[in-house]
Amino acid sequence: MKHKDISYKRAGKFEESRYEKIHNVVFDNSIIASIAVAEEISNLIKSKQKTNEKCIIGLATGSSPIAVYNELIRLHNEEKLSFHNVITFNLDEYLPMHKKDIQSYYYFMHEHLFNHIDILPENIHIPDGTVSNDVLYQYCVDYELKIRDTGGLDYQLLGIGRTGHIGFNEPGSHLNSGTRSITLDHLTRSDAAASFQGIENVPRKAITMGIGTVMAAKRIVLLGWGQHKSQIIKETIEGDISSEVPATYLQNHQNTTFVLDNEAGGALTRNKTSWLVKPSVWNEELKSKAIVWLCEKTNKSILKLTDKDYNDNSMSSLLAEQGKSYNLNIEMFNKLQHTITGWPGGKPNSDDLKRPERSTPAKKRVLIFSPHPDDDVISMGGTLDRLIEQGHEVHVAYQTSGNIAVSDQEALKFAEVSNSLNNNKINTGIINDLVNKNIDSIDTKDIRNLKGLIRRSESLAATRSLKLNDKNVYFLNLPFYETGKIKKNKLSEKIFLL
Ligand code: F6R
Repeated sequence: MKHKDISYKRAGKFEESRYEKIHNVVFDNSIIASIAVAEEISNLIKSKQKTNEKCIIGLATGSSPIAVYNELIRLHNEEKLSFHNVITFNLDEYLPMHKKDIQSYYYFMHEHLFNHIDILPENIHIPDGTVSNDVLYQYCVDYELKIRDTGGLDYQLLGIGRTGHIGFNEPGSHLNSGTRSITLDHLTRSDAAASFQGIENVPRKAITMGIGTVMAAKRIVLLGWGQHKSQIIKETIEGDISSEVPATYLQNHQNTTFVLDNEAGGALTRNKTSWLVKPSVWNEELKSKAIVWLCEKTNKSILKLTDKDYNDNSMSSLLAEQGKSYNLNIEMFNKLQHTITGWPGGKPNSDDLKRPERSTPAKKRVLIFSPHPDDDVISMGGTLDRLIEQGHEVHVAYQTSGNIAVSDQEALKFAEVSNSLNNNKINTGIINDLVNKNIDSIDTKDIRNLKGLIRRSESLAATRSLKLNDKNVYFLNLPFYETGKIKKNKLSEKIFLL
């Protein structure tokens, strides 16, 4: 499906979006959304080329824009999109941070975009994370002036943090703020902890363009993917403007679009509680959703909901269709009751007709795919335990080695133990590599192997404690994961069974 121009796509019918103060478009998934955004950027670049103008674009890092960058690279490679007239300014950089560090936004931008397109190196601007304190203020003022002198931002691409930050403008940021250094919020640092191997390694400061810098852009597109962003996106689009949620300042920008996937747009009133803003077709799914919501809203258990509760909360049409609250409450209560079972794989020889699981065949073959070693027990440990205990044939397949999550200290401990057991004859290479490793360097193949083995033993400990036979546990070690970096390779058909 082609989305020629996102800015003119309607967010929803007028009444539906009456709580919304920022234009937004919700796509089925982040990939088609990113393709639409890349197309808009590409059209802008090409229209500037026709009139021999520069195209000034503000760019973001993080996970949100990656698919947009991938599509821009594809357009460059396959459709000859040139970036010769493009000048970029990145939103932010950690402080202190060296360009060559793999966590630097400089590294990120080159790896994800600049190394793959024909942008002129002198047209790339990324705040420098090595500027010393005594010149920092002037450096930020100069960055700001450079954006203005170049002609101002034609287009600003944004992500949003769970604190409501845009760039690194954390809660408390002022509407008129310019490029400056800022102290990072704890939530922002904990969100970045995984890529720094622990929150203690995440810098406490950053340089960021200001809210004022962003607001001066002629066009702003903010990307939001995933359920974890849905709450802050709702607050930003539907809440009051407040420095506590800096992204709400965008409500006053006349040409902003939030591009969302279904999950990120899921908490908007028109999606989450559609009966509040538009006439409803009360199918079973909507009925359940609305009644559970009504319980939360009124803080009552299902059986205590009254006709008045339904009427006061825009659910009178449900009553009109289905009769009294008493009947509705009982129906919903029974429905929920039947979703609770101690027999996740089905119960043998029982009349289980009203349960969601069939009673026959009683014994099933169950294959659980776990992205990393531990996701199985963390997300469905209780169910896994029951399935084994109730005699089903259970298999667990770990898709990746998960080696990136093992710290260097942990790996060193295991390498040293194994070395001592072998009279100091082996592992000295790994030990030396670990001792001399910089925080930012990529693990050698041997270190990755060791870290993978550690995770493998940990998961075997977990599956054994659930009494699962080792032969039913598979370590696929999918090669796309084995980069030693946060960025993974493309998926392929290959698998390695160890
Ligand atoms: C990155 C930036 C940040 C991110 C935000 C969301 O340059 O300025 O505001 O856009 O933290 O990060 P992701 O996209 O990783 O969820």
